[in-house]
Order: sequence, then C-alpha cells, then structure tokens
Amino acid sequence: MTDSQTELSPEQQVAAAREAFEQEFERFARFIDDSSSLAGLDLDQALAEQRALADLRTRHLGKKSALAATKKLIGRVAAADRAAFGQVVQATEAALVKSLDDADQNLKQHIETQRVARESIDVTMPGRRPRSGHRHPITLLRERVEDIFVALGYAIEDDREIETDFYNFDALNIPEYHPARASQDTFYTTEGFALRTQTSTVQIHAMQRRGVPVRMIAPGRVFRRDTPDPTHNPMFFQVEGLCVDRGITMAHLKGTVAEFLRRMFGADTVTRFRPSYFPFTEPSAEFDFSCFKCKGSGCRICKNSGWIELGGSGMVHPNVLRAVGVDPQVYSGFAFGLGIDRMCALMYELDDIRLLFENDVRFLEQFR
Ligand code: FA5
Repeated sequence: MTDSQTELSPEQQVAAAREAFEQEFERFARFIDDSSSLAGLDLDQALAEQRALADLRTRHLGKKSALAATKKLIGRVAAADRAAFGQVVQATEAALVKSLDDADQNLKQHIETQRVARESIDVTMPGRRPRSGHRHPITLLRERVEDIFVALGYAIEDDREIETDFYNFDALNIPEYHPARASQDTFYTTEGFALRTQTSTVQIHAMQRRGVPVRMIAPGRVFRRDTPDPTHNPMFFQVEGLCVDRGITMAHLKGTVAEFLRRMFGADTVTRFRPSYFPFTEPSAEFDFSCFKCKGSGCRICKNSGWIELGGSGMVHPNVLRAVGVDPQVYSGFAFGLGIDRMCALMYELDDIRLLFENDVRFLEQFR
C-alpha cells in the first residue's frame, strides 16, 4: 500500500480504486454502449482487445489489486460502520465485474462472428488451380529413346558423371597424347578426376558389372569445355548404346541404328553411315538420317542437305574388350552414341540449344 493510499480513508480508497478502473476501462466502455464501435474491429484486433480486457480484470480485481487491498480494511473499520463499508466494497466490486463482463460478452460475440466470416467458403468463387509441373523436353525425348531400345531388348544403364582416367580414357583406348585428354577439352576436379566427356564410359562399367553378352543403352549427362553457342553447351545429354555377343557384325550395328531411327522418325526414314574415327571403335562411322521434315528434299532444318547428323558408332575396339577382360577372338560388338540436345532442338525447331537450360518456364511450358 502506498503512502498516499494510507493517508486516504477506507471509503476514499475504494473510490480511488473505482476511479482508476473507470479511467482505464473508458476505451472498452464503447463496446457496451455502442455496438457499432465493434464493427470496425477485425478478428485480430478484437482478439487483442479481449486480451487487454483480461489484463485489466487482473489488475483491478486480482489479489494484488487496490480493491482487494480495501477488503483487508473491513476488519479495521469501526464496528458501527463496518457493514456499510463492506457493502460499498462489494457493490464496487460487483460494478467492476459487470462492466468487464458486459464488454467481454460483446467482444466474444463479435469475435465469433468474425471467425465464422473468415472460415466461411464462398462456393461461387472460381477455384485456384495448382500449377502442375511437367517433364523437361530432354526427358521426354530420352524416354522415347529408352522405350524404343527397351522394346529391342536393351537394358538401361546409369552410371557416375565423375570418372577416373581409366574409365574416361585408358579403357576406351584413348592414348595419353590424345587431344581429348587435354584440359582445354575436359573439366578436371582438383583431385584429378574428370567429368565424363561422353557416355562411352558406361560401356566399361556395364561390361565389368554384367559381363558379356550385353545389350544396353546409357542415357546421361556429359561435360565438355565447349564455349556455349547455338549448337554447343558445356553440359549436354548423350545416349550410348552397346551390344556385345558372339558373331556381332557391322550389319547388326547398321540394322539396329536404322531400326531405331525408323521407330523414332517414321518408317520411311533412311540412314546413312560415313567413315569416321573414334579411338574406342574400329571401324568407326558417323551416322545421319534423312530429314524428318522435308524427307530428304532439303529444308531449313537439314540446312538444305536432306540429311541430319546424329552421332558416332563403330565396332568395339579389341583393346576396349581386353580392358574389361573379354576375349576379342570370341566376342565382338558394336557401340554408338548420340547427342540428345541437338536432336531435341531439331525436333522442336529450336534455333538454339541453350534455350533448353535457361529454365524459362514460359519456354518450357510449350512442351507439355
Ligand atoms: C562421341 O561422344 C562418341 N562417344 C560417340 C560414339 C559412341 C562413337 C560409341 C562411337 C561409339 P561425339 O564427340 O561426336 O562422339 O559426340 C556425339 C554427339 O554429342 C554429337 O553428335 C552431338 O550431337 C553431341 N555433342 C557434342 N558436343 C556437344 C556440345 N558441346 N553440346 C551439345 N551437343 C554436343
């Protein structure tokens, strides 16, 4: 009890407690007298007012309140005045409780109304359709290639993108002085590993893992230190194919690639092979197919040549078979590899393969 309170008579102390309450309660009184003042409160504001009102109740009616202190004075008041004083204290307390209850009651009702409004659903509002994702055009194309080869009896292999020199070069019969090993063509990690520059590395893993005979394709990402331009990216996708068995010849290679291209681009597609060189195949050939757009007569897509270049191929070099412990006197095989990005650009008539990895949703959404 403060000094100023001790100087006041018990009745004056009750009056002071009531006055202090009235002052603080003033801002809540409007919720009783004027229900329209509640209309301006949204749910969060009304909840905040309710909490403030509860605090006010504790301060003015709680055990440590000034009014509670006056109750302790009842016993000290002269016996003749005690009953009257007690009634004053009780009446004051009842008045405070009533004010608080009335304001609280109206706030509660308002909060309930606001809650119902917030949680109600307007069934006439148009729904919000979630944006659905879809596969990337490269993935769509990869899956088409996979479907064709699975139907031809090939397994799908996946393997690592970071390789040792053995898998990237040595086992593929790429000698130490070969330019492909130079750091201007290949990304090397600081530990001396190489990011694979072609999916041909999977030939080696697959033969080590499965042994021979083997028939597999390996789609995947490869990396080269090529400067980006409309037909080059430093990261792109290839599909490797490998078939090793007894008695496999170049005829099997040509038949398989031609059949794949017919299933891919139409029954009238013509395939041609041009002699080429790859360290891991001998003999080697690059293959082209007749343009799917103009059927060979010449157009913008095939640059008026009638042909579209697709990839490299050849008979697996005996050194590659030896590197994985397969006897080239008993087994032979063919391999081929093609780039998916350029094929994708041709099929969708894109002028620039870099568009495929700019991740512009407006562009990618066209290929659902
Ligand atoms: C190879 O990578 C050989 N491994 C293919 C092969 C496999 C031959 C098996 C024999 C046996 P090449 O370097 O030509 O070959 O690449 C194959 C395809 O990758 C190319 O035809 C092209 O479509 C694509 N390609 C090459 N560089 C890029 C690049 N920077 N950006 C996009 N595509 C590329």
